[in-house]
Amino acid sequence: MKKNIIKSYLDYNLKKLEKKNFSNNRLPLSFVQYDSNDILNSINTLIKGWPTIGNEVKQVEKKIQKFLKIKNAIMLNSGGSANFLILYLLCSPYAKKEDRLHEGDEIITPAVTWSTTVSPIIQNNLVPVLADVNLSTYDLNINSIEKNLSKKTKAIMLVNPLGHVCDMKKIQSICKKNNLLLIEDNCESIGAKYNNKFAGTFGKFSSISMYQSHHISSVEGGMILTNDDYYADILRSMRANGWLREVKNLNTRKIFLKSFREIDESFMFPYIGFNFKPTDLSAALVKNQIDKLNEFINKRRFAARKIIKSLNKFDEFLYLPKEFTNIKNSWFTFPIVVKKNKFFSKKMLTNFLSENRIDNRPIIAGNIADQPFIKKFKYKKKKLTNAKLVMDSGFFIGLNHMLNTKRINYIIKVFNKFFKNTIKE
Ligand SMILES: Cc1ncc(COP(=O)(O)O)c(C=O)c1O
Repeated sequence: MKKNIIKSYLDYNLKKLEKKNFSNNRLPLSFVQYDSNDILNSINTLIKGWPTIGNEVKQVEKKIQKFLKIKNAIMLNSGGSANFLILYLLCSPYAKKEDRLHEGDEIITPAVTWSTTVSPIIQNNLVPVLADVNLSTYDLNINSIEKNLSKKTKAIMLVNPLGHVCDMKKIQSICKKNNLLLIEDNCESIGAKYNNKFAGTFGKFSSISMYQSHHISSVEGGMILTNDDYYADILRSMRANGWLREVKNLNTRKIFLKSFREIDESFMFPYIGFNFKPTDLSAALVKNQIDKLNEFINKRRFAARKIIKSLNKFDEFLYLPKEFTNIKNSWFTFPIVVKKNKFFSKKMLTNFLSENRIDNRPIIAGNIADQPFIKKFKYKKKKLTNAKLVMDSGFFIGLNHMLNTKRINYIIKVFNKFFKNTIKE
């Protein structure tokens, strides 16, 4: 009875929030994915008295493993932490000889990405080599990868951008030919597929993010995915202070317990540790969203297709996103780059969208080579023609599961109006 009252209260307020965020045709960049049941599940972990890492985290990890068909999903407090921990592990004495990265090794990564794809490379004393991206899809350009290869290249840290997947076949072949490790930053593309295989399952490791604006959300949260059980066990421990209690492998446990008999089992720390722990509070919030992920993705795909179809007539002026037959996009946002033309600039278009309450922002973090943080550190780049264009002339609008037909039609109407007002031959 009491639960029903709380649920009604939450439902009422979530509806109110939707009304507020979408009022007067406003189109926000994202909207919460959780419902009243998710909130109740989360609150329950507080009432039960164990809201930190526990059973809910385990259940979320299991569900993600099943969904993505991967052996190990290790939940952390963010996608950025996931990227950091993957590289830290590979630079540590725990890395297998054939995988070990050393100070000064070069890692090829896209110039257009989020700050915490590149920062962890620098933080681990490795050198990011910023490669150019393709327009329309914003994935790593294969020619640019090849041009940036050197004797020091040891890994490719690709990004599956905005729900699209990189050209895995070509990238895997480059990795094989040059003996490179493949790591996937899949923070923006959970559920996307390449040749019917999930993005995030191609690399030795990959990361996903469950930040609040993403497909599914634990407010803050991320995951490391790997099929390697040896590494998974160490990662589980390292995220939680380096604790033995997080080590699953019974043989490994036995070896440590036998070698360090005098140490209390509950407070033994076999691995170097961080506190990158997720909480059950977050895990309980996201747990049932995983069951709705396919529905969310389908809604995003429906919206993207409709918008692309309607805006294609403006392709003389805009680089619009594209779909490929071997890729199932799990659209994250709707990116656009304005082509050079005599009628209008990006600013004119984004101002018009803002005036009409369609929120917009730069594409990911734009060109990382232009961001202040990188200037203080060693990095390499060649000419970044497309990344520069993305930075100067690119933006995205929101594309999420809340885009119903009425809202999609509104977006199309606003674009039509802009072009009608602006293009006067
Ligand atoms: C490509 C990419 N990498 C990493 C991250 C970091 O994820 P988080 O915000 O969960 O730390 C993001 C965040 O959106 C991202 O887009």
